[in-house]
Amino acid sequence: METISKLMIFYFSGTGNAKQIALWITEYAKERGINSQLCNISTVDSLEMFDSETSIIIISPIHGFSYPKITFDFIKKLPKGNNQVVLMATRAGMRIGNYVTPGLTGIAFFVSRVKSHTEKLFSNNRNFLSRKDLLQDILISPVSLGYSLAGKYVFAKTFYASAKCTNCNQCINNCPAKAISIIKGKPFWTFRCQSCMKCMTSCPTKAIESAHGLIIILSFLSSVTLSALSGFILADYFHSIFVKLLIFTFLLIIFLLVFYKVQHALLRNKYLEKLIVLTSLTHYKFWGKQNPK
Ligand SMILES: Cc1cc2nc3c(=O)[nH]c(=O)nc-3n(C[C@H](O)[C@H](O)[C@H](O)COP(=O)(O)O)c2cc1C
Repeated sequence: METISKLMIFYFSGTGNAKQIALWITEYAKERGINSQLCNISTVDSLEMFDSETSIIIISPIHGFSYPKITFDFIKKLPKGNNQVVLMATRAGMRIGNYVTPGLTGIAFFVSRVKSHTEKLFSNNRNFLSRKDLLQDILISPVSLGYSLAGKYVFAKTFYASAKCTNCNQCINNCPAKAISIIKGKPFWTFRCQSCMKCMTSCPTKAIESAHGLIIILSFLSSVTLSALSGFILADYFHSIFVKLLIFTFLLIIFLLVFYKVQHALLRNKYLEKLIVLTSLTHYKFWGKQNPK
């Protein structure tokens, strides 16, 4: 059986899981005497044709039951060729006491499987565990489409920097999507953000939070506006739950567009800043915000 001789490993990583797996694969490749190269997707500008013996591995987190845009854009950039390409994903899990669930579609916490997975890959064994998830993944795909609209725009607009921010610009410099700018002396997240959380994990003072309070208030405002619209003005058009959901999402995004800027201004007041921080779940220990790196 033909085995792999050259390996190119591309990864995109927000909180570090995909990067860790990429590093492990590099180690195993080294143990096997396989020539491997590691490359961060977010820093790749252009790609040249790979020689025919090179196998390519792409590792990325799953965001909203799909790859994030940055990974898709990279895949589109890959030059055409007959190389073997292996796609890998890190996904969510949940710790319940000593037990760790694999997540809805996920295997992220079962990272110990990386070694056996990699062994199969290096020996060209095609029996991959991920096939078992296929039915589940197909069933969840409509949610994935919904996420590509709501998740992207809503989650991306929840990040803010608390008073702990020292303006060190680490979040801006490390952002793979170049989505953070400075407005009135404070980091401001634009809609280019892909919610990968790299900013949170790069922040040396743990100043970056996610504004759940804002989302709750705006969800309430969107519901009230939707009820007003469906009750009085456009009653005939509001029978379908799908239409309602679409309009709710649209309203939420419009409100976010305006109120995110308002919140950014309010953060300058030290009492309001405290209130906004206290209504952010990321502020609390159970969220498990990563230690600064
Ligand atoms: C915005 C966002 C959306 C996510 N969506 C999913 C998901 O749909 N399914 C899943 O299993 N995990 C999901 N996750 C969890 C990540 O895929 C998981 O934590 C992954 O290991 C992160 O990899 P990284 O540390 O390399 O960024 C999501 C994480 C984020 C930040």
